[in-house]
Order: sequence, then C-alpha cells, then structure tokens
Amino acid sequence: MKTPIPASLLALFWTAACAAQAPEPLKPPAAFRGIQDRNERSAAMFVEAGRVIASPRCLNCHPALRAPTQGDDLHPHVPPITAAETPLGKPGLLCMACHQAKTVPAAGTNFRSIPGHAHWSLAPASMAWQGRTLGEICEQIKDTSRNGGRNLKQISEHMGKDSLVGWAWHPGPGRVPAPGTQDAFGRLIQAWIDDGAACPR
Ligand code: HEC
Ligand code: HEC
Repeated sequence: MKTPIPASLLALFWTAACAAQAPEPLKPPAAFRGIQDRNERSAAMFVEAGRVIASPRCLNCHPALRAPTQGDDLHPHVPPITAAETPLGKPGLLCMACHQAKTVPAAGTNFRSIPGHAHWSLAPASMAWQGRTLGEICEQIKDTSRNGGRNLKQISEHMGKDSLVGWAWHPGPGRVPAPGTQDAFGRLIQAWIDDGAACPR
C-alpha cells in the first residue's frame, strides 16, 4: 500500500507552484454541458464567473461603504477616500487627482503602479458587492432598480466589453489580474443569460 501524501503537504507544493503563475483560467460554457437541468447549469456558470466577480480587482471598486478599498486583502484605501458626495470623490480630492486615464508605473514607492482608466470612479451604493453572497450579488446584478437600469443584454455587454471592467485583467505591476480573460468571462455571462440567468443559492 502506498503512503498517501498528507493534504497539507500537497497544499504547500500547490501554493508554491502556483504562486508565480496567473490564476487558473475560467472554464468555458461547454464545460457545463453535462449539467442537464437548465437552471442548475445557469447557476453553475454564474458561480464560475463569480471567480472574477469576487476577485479583489472588482471588489475594491464595489465596496460596502462609500470608500474604495485596495490590495488583495481589501484594506481601506490609503489615503482615506470618501465617495459619499459623488462617485468621483469629493470636490477637492477627486479620484482623477491621482488616478490617470491609464495605469502608470510608480517606481520608488511602496506600491508598484497607480491603477487608471478614463472613467475611474466608485461603483454606486446600489452596486455594492463586498460582504454579500454570490447569490445576492447575482440578484442585484439582474435588478434594474439597482444595476443602473440595464437589461440582461446590457449587463452582458458591460461585463464582456466595458473597458473599465477590462482593467481588472491588466491591472498594472503589483496586482494579480482577475482569472481568465474578459472575453472568456463575457462568454460565461452570456451563456448564464442564455440558460435563464439563474442565481446560485
Ligand atoms: C491621493 C491620491 C488618490 C486619490 C484621490 C484616490 N486614489 Fe485610489 N489609489 C491611489 C494609489 C496610489 C493607489 C495604489 C495603491 C496600491 O496599490 O497600494 C490607489 C488604489 C486604488 C484602488 C485599488 C485597486 C486594486 O484593486 O488594488 C482602488 C479601487 C481605488 N484606488 C479607487 C479610488 C477611487 C474610486 C477614488 C475616488 C473616489 C480614488 N481611488 C481616489 C491614490 C489615490
Ligand atoms: C475603478 C472602479 C471599478 C472597477 C475596478 C470595477 N468596477 Fe464595476 N462599476 C464601477 C462603476 C463606477 C459602475 C457604475 C457605472 C455605471 O452605472 O455606468 C460599475 C458598475 C458595474 C456593473 C453594473 C451593474 C451592477 O449591478 O453592478 C457591473 C455588472 C460591474 N460594474 C462589473 C464589474 C466587474 C465584473 C469588475 C471586475 C472585473 C468591475 N466591475 C470592476 C466601477 C468599477
């Protein structure tokens, strides 16, 4: 009989082997064909897409409070920032005071780049994701009273094509990109919708 390798040791090797690599790619919709029940299949695809949605690159801009967070541990933004007055920050300290139209390298600081995009701003309060379950986020993404009045076609386009969302896959030095590609993410979201946009419980 072979001696099984302890799981803890395996986990250690796994972590070491993966530390330097990009996250596991997203499964394509075809990988879910084996699930017969349409609702179950749809929800399963949302769970896979949820690996992106629940990534720090998205969550930092979809916080619970009216203040962005930073890093993979979602720590409060340094310096403290409020977007309570407007999603662009407060007059006198707008996001664009520091965040440029593009991500810029920042040598000689304790972070390696300042993330940027022409529309850099905080997601509105109705689109807060931090602290919510994936099922709750799913319901809220479909709810036109909370998602900026988008129908499912517009949600699909926003997820799969919007360049602010796309920033998450090239977030600049010092940040881990969201899993997979925006294109693969967009295809999963579209397949989730095609199968009825069911939400995981
Ligand atoms: C005083 C300068 C400054 C202002 C103003 C500012 N930021 Fe930042 N922000 C930074 C810097 C510098 C970083 C990079 C820090 C790091 O990665 O450790 C950053 C990082 C972030 C991140 C983290 C991205 C990630 O995934 O790690 C988010 C989100 C963010 N800012 C949102 C905002 C928003 C939204 C506003 C306006 C409401 C804003 N910031 C205003 C300087 C600023
Ligand atoms: C720099 C901040 C920022 C980042 C990073 C960001 N978002 Fe957003 N997000 C916003 C803002 C601002 C809005 C509101 C825009 C609007 O309604 O036109 C928004 C709205 C949305 C919406 C609209 C509907 C809803 O219910 O929330 C979706 C979907 C969305 N974002 C997905 C994502 C995903 C997925 C990621 C990561 C891959 C992401 N966002 C990363 C700022 C951000």
